Amino acid sequence: VTGADRLRIGIVGTGAIAGAHSAAYRTVAGTYPEAPRSIVLAAAADVDHGRAEAIGRAWGWERAETDWKAITRAEDVDVVDICAPNVFHADIAIDALTHGKHVICEKPLASSPAAAFAMVEAAAAAQRVAQVCFYYRVWPAISWVAEMVASGRFGRPRHFRGWMLQDYAANPGHDMAWRARLGEAGAGALGDLGSHIIDIARTLCGDIAQVCGTLHTLVDRGPTAAGIDDLTAMLVRFEDGTSGVIEASWALRGHHCDLGFDLVCEDGGVRFSWERGNEVQVLEGDVADATNGYRTVLIGKGQPDVDRFVSVSGQGMGYRDTFTIGVSRSLSAIARGDVDAAPTFADGLAAALVVDATQRSASEGGWVDVARPPIVGAATA
Ligand SMILES: NC(=O)c1ccc[n+]([C@@H]2O[C@H](COP(=O)([O-])OP(=O)(O)OC[C@H]3O[C@@H](n4cnc5c(N)ncnc54)[C@H](O)[C@@H]3O)[C@@H](O)[C@H]2O)c1
Repeated sequence: VTGADRLRIGIVGTGAIAGAHSAAYRTVAGTYPEAPRSIVLAAAADVDHGRAEAIGRAWGWERAETDWKAITRAEDVDVVDICAPNVFHADIAIDALTHGKHVICEKPLASSPAAAFAMVEAAAAAQRVAQVCFYYRVWPAISWVAEMVASGRFGRPRHFRGWMLQDYAANPGHDMAWRARLGEAGAGALGDLGSHIIDIARTLCGDIAQVCGTLHTLVDRGPTAAGIDDLTAMLVRFEDGTSGVIEASWALRGHHCDLGFDLVCEDGGVRFSWERGNEVQVLEGDVADATNGYRTVLIGKGQPDVDRFVSVSGQGMGYRDTFTIGVSRSLSAIARGDVDAAPTFADGLAAALVVDATQRSASEGGWVDVARPPIVGAATA
């Protein structure tokens, strides 16, 4: 890998989330001096050619394609950004890596742990950047909490409660498209939204060793949606024995984008919800002082990335900024000749293994072990 001051991006899948990615590529160089100076929006592909053309007109993608191989194998593309439905991620990413491209791939990494592992192996063999867009974890409030927890400021974690609750699917009339077809999605709300909070749980408390989970259907979508969950509730045990509870749903009314957690540690704790994403509740101080409670800290100076976006606390940042932060990690890594840009494909695989364990637990009943990731290269050694 060599450093680069000019990177050409090709995007595959130009649906709902592709706008946030396009905006990030437009703002990243101005926001991050360490990112390459010139980011070229070279090509966009979608099986719906009209969509690829429309995003080109909106954001300046230079050419529209229908076949993703016209991106993964293009001479004029350095980074392949995958925003297609989950079932296509593995084929596109592996082809791109095989053709020497760096890859930024939407979450969940794949629709099965086997596909996710094949992607991890392809990334290791190619020695290219391979990032999964678990971008909630790069949000300054969450990065800051992760730094504080890792520094030991709150002492050892005692209990993690985390949730990712939305309600867009509570309306039976909402068109779920591929998200309600198990073969294309791999899981329902558990994979779509649960994978985000599983990633946050891992970021704060380390790997999850065991789960005891349930899956529930809340909305009748007919036989084509068989196996698609609307809600998961799970108990988890982290590798170090820390206890946890995780919930995810896309159909819980009133929760619009409630990605939150409540982490209680030996010497303090933190609370957060995305719906008040510019605030973190922090608890510190003497356990014997009954008047001691949580205080509100606004996202601001001294927290990761914030100075790039706003000059004083309280101005606030927004959802799309996470994408600018996220892609900056990948593009800056490429600029300095590195392939390490978190969250990595290995993080995507780890989340996929927790999703898989939860599905097994829900069907078998009771606690199950989360499978350990296979050793990269072992099959071919
Ligand atoms: N990071 C996040 O918070 C976040 C948010 C939303 C979506 N996502 C992820 O992004 C991905 C896309 O989600 P979305 O909401 O944009 O979906 P979407 O259905 O709105 O868009 C998907 C697009 O991919 C196109 N497509 C389908 N098959 C294709 C193929 N074989 N080749 C090229 N294009 C193809 C479709 O025509 C459509 O335009 C999913 O993996 C999803 O989980 C992540």
